[in-house]
Amino acid sequence: MPILTILPEGKTISLSSETPVMEALRDEEIYIKSSCGGVASCSDCVVKVIEGADHCNPPPFEETRLLGNVFHITKERLSCQLKCTGDLTIDISRHDKAADENKLKNKTSSFVTKRRTKDDVSKIREDRAQERAERPEGKEGGKRRPRPFRTDVPPKPRK
Ligand code: FES
Repeated sequence: MPILTILPEGKTISLSSETPVMEALRDEEIYIKSSCGGVASCSDCVVKVIEGADHCNPPPFEETRLLGNVFHITKERLSCQLKCTGDLTIDISRHDKAADENKLKNKTSSFVTKRRTKDDVSKIREDRAQERAERPEGKEGGKRRPRPFRTDVPPKPRK
């Protein structure tokens, strides 16, 4: 059974060659960020292969579509698509559960605080009404109507 070494902690786990790395990490309750649940559409689960790149499966089409064909440069793979036939060392230092949860919390709370209340809406309406009342005569705008289309007069011939 291949041995997977997880940096920066240095923890080692064994996994079968048919199990995706993300699944093995989750079984060990090691956090890996994912939005798509492992179907290769979010690219959140990227890990860096430090050692044992020769033991990795070739990236499937879905992975190449997301990350491009640059593994030889970046050494990055989607952990949901990565399987290994031999020992492998990966770096998951970019997956910080606390930071991700905090980001999500801030996102939600800022959305809630930015929602308009009824008082806000009535204040905005009052401001607009006051603006309209203060406009000089003839500058109201928006009162022009298109000329009606006349069917009783034949169109002028074009030159
Ligand atoms: S979990 Fe979304 S791409 Fe791997």
